[in-house]
Amino acid sequence: MSEQTFLTDIKTIRERARQHIEDGAVTEGYGADRETVINILNEALATEIVCVLRYKRHYYMADGLSSSIAKGEFLEHAQEEQQHADQLAERITQLGGAPNFSPEGLLSRSHSEYAEGETLEEMIKEDLIAERIAIDSYREIITYLGDKDPTSRRVMEEILAQEEEHADDMASLLEGVRTST
Ligand SMILES: [Fe+2]
Ligand SMILES: [Fe+2]
Repeated sequence: MSEQTFLTDIKTIRERARQHIEDGAVTEGYGADRETVINILNEALATEIVCVLRYKRHYYMADGLSSSIAKGEFLEHAQEEQQHADQLAERITQLGGAPNFSPEGLLSRSHSEYAEGETLEEMIKEDLIAERIAIDSYREIITYLGDKDPTSRRVMEEILAQEEEHADDMASLLEGVRTST
């Protein structure tokens, strides 16, 4: 994937992430618009599910001499993305919403993409791109939540911190794969 398409995607993704945010009416007692927050968290949930699927695919497809470290990382990330999905689903129900686990429309709800990648290097690159997308969109969500819903914000902050670690892991792996070939 070229740098150009990546930038275009980010733009689309940011626009999509803003859609619900700009609806924002404020309800009594709760500082944020509950429905908007539920929608936003459901988009983050879809993002996490897509990340689980992509990392699982990469875990099973990675082979070759240099793949053992990558395989370990892919599996670990898949498990952590699953935990993120669970944290989000739990928060959605706390807000009185319903977590959307429907496979229908999953990709269009997700901020990140499901890219398979042919080679190990491509897989790592796709994962890095997906992490960078998640980082940007989660950061925007956190800014939106601000002081209006500190609990949801804290959940998103915890997840964001781990996505940053994931991106860092993928960047190091990418460098490793590039220097070993
Ligand atoms: Fe995640
Ligand atoms: Fe991640």
